Amino acid sequence: MRILSGIQPSGALHLGNYFGMMLPAIELQQQGEAFYFIADYHSMTSLFDPAERRKNTLDVALDFLACGLDPAKAVFFRQSDVPEVTELTWLLSTVTPMGLLERCHSYKDKLAKGFAPSHGLFAYPVLMAADILLYDSNVVPVGQDQKQHVEVTRDIAIKFNEQYGETFVIPEPRIRTEVAKVPGLDGEKMSKSYGNTIEIFGDEKALRKKVMGIKMDSRTPAEPKPDADQNLALQILKLVAPPAVAKDFEDRLRAGGLGYGDLKKALFEHYWNCFAPARARRAELAANLDFVHGVLRDGAAKARVKAVEVLRRARRASGIE
Ligand code: TRP
Repeated sequence: MRILSGIQPSGALHLGNYFGMMLPAIELQQQGEAFYFIADYHSMTSLFDPAERRKNTLDVALDFLACGLDPAKAVFFRQSDVPEVTELTWLLSTVTPMGLLERCHSYKDKLAKGFAPSHGLFAYPVLMAADILLYDSNVVPVGQDQKQHVEVTRDIAIKFNEQYGETFVIPEPRIRTEVAKVPGLDGEKMSKSYGNTIEIFGDEKALRKKVMGIKMDSRTPAEPKPDADQNLALQILKLVAPPAVAKDFEDRLRAGGLGYGDLKKALFEHYWNCFAPARARRAELAANLDFVHGVLRDGAAKARVKAVEVLRRARRASGIE
């Protein structure tokens, strides 16, 4: 079974990315042949600063390796290191109905956010289909927001297979529903675009300040809080602290007598300790960038073997070869 997923290099990763995407991806690397890549071509549809793209791409590589992606188990590479994906994008685009892309929520959302309607933004799902189909992927683990893109991929693959004969494996989305929803500082879903994130790596002082700024209500410490499970700091504590510790804090909040300041201090300590080993690994990797570039290079070489095979199949089927 081939498992494939991509992540956009859009900045420092936060707890929402970690519990929602990285941890499940790292766990999945045990269950099949995992291909994970950094979608730097996709980032060109919404990020226009070259230096920032370079930095973000390297940061994602460091973050993933530090958090436990094992290059001996998963093939980890940068999308643009396998240029076959752009050729496949063209072949697929010729069988992609306009209406299929016009219906995509993410395109409409981006326009609503003020992005200029570029062709790249519109054709984003075709590049994503190429990412998936190029490696005969069976399973694509993604968040709910990407489900439609995997469905578009299936439609495009079916269309191509009907037009030119059996060429592509039809992939299945695996939607992460069971994973923790991580609330942000303000109680909305943690997301970079809401500006409510707690990063995994970064400056201790700044991150402590963020944690201490998590939104609370104005009840006094003494007051019992029967709705303790709604407390944002407690919800995050449950993810980063041992269950018994989180339970103890929940009981104390419920009973009354625990101040929000003390709860947040405890949250910061547990969060900071939870990522201490990853932080140490990340520092080691950052001091050894040759190793990191080597991992990506080896990953691309492995991915390319498959990419060349599948692209040739598509070229032959369609009469280019
Ligand atoms: N569009 C995905 C996102 O923003 C990233 C991505 C690009 C991807 N290509 C992919 C995910 C292929 C899964 C498979 O999250």
